[in-house]
Amino acid sequence: MIKIKSPEEIKKMRSAGKLAAEVLEYIEKYVVEGQNTAEIDRLCHEFIVSKGAIPAPLNYHGFPKSICTSVNNIVCHGIPSNKQILNNGDIVNVDVTVILDDYHGDTSRTYLIGDVKESTRLLVERSENAMMRGIQAIKPNSFLYEVGKAIEKYVNKFKYSIVRDYGGHGIGREFHEDPHVYHFYTPANRIRLRPGMIFTVEPMINEGGYEVVTSQTDGWTVTTKDNSLTAQFEHTVLVTEKGYEILTKL
Ligand code: MF3
Ligand code: CO
Ligand code: CO
Repeated sequence: MIKIKSPEEIKKMRSAGKLAAEVLEYIEKYVVEGQNTAEIDRLCHEFIVSKGAIPAPLNYHGFPKSICTSVNNIVCHGIPSNKQILNNGDIVNVDVTVILDDYHGDTSRTYLIGDVKESTRLLVERSENAMMRGIQAIKPNSFLYEVGKAIEKYVNKFKYSIVRDYGGHGIGREFHEDPHVYHFYTPANRIRLRPGMIFTVEPMINEGGYEVVTSQTDGWTVTTKDNSLTAQFEHTVLVTEKGYEILTKL
């Protein structure tokens, strides 16, 4: 069941979204060469709690940290660790979800560490473009599959692949609500978009094949099967009467 949010709920989702965006802005200066990802987690945790909010990932289905940090070939759900040091040329996705006044805001960004190879910089830039193409396809009375279709159309220009095993999701009082948002065209997303629906758009784009593997050791870390680089951006988006509104913006 896809919930249509009330004007009061939309206000709260706007506040939660704005706070999540503020976390990504705040943390930027700490996402640098030599930093370890546990410290990035600690700083985000302190910032979120200081604003009277809760970091949603912490203890979510047993997840041990407050944010996800996914470096290089890690697709998503990377666990921050003091043993994971960011090196020159790395890329790292920081995925922040906050609960403010009972409502969730979910956003992520991929940061570049120092001097990154041109091909890597392009992967990151195009991953953000892919997310934006998907968001720009959101219109009331059109179908949700237009999001995936637009992402696929854009990504197919390059020798990249789109992760198929993870998608966007409805979001509100719950972290993950209906619908599942595919980042490629599928008739499974033949769902009519209506004003008041809120979901994330968060395509994971791989430099190699689309297959992914989940760590047998920690049960969370998802990597590309061929260990190719992967990048991701995420926004929480509201369907409006006119089109869409990005909620995870400053
Ligand atoms: N923030 C992720 C998403 O975009 C979900 C992380 S779940 C966790 O949906 F348990 F790994 F934190
Ligand atoms: Co999400
Ligand atoms: Co997220």
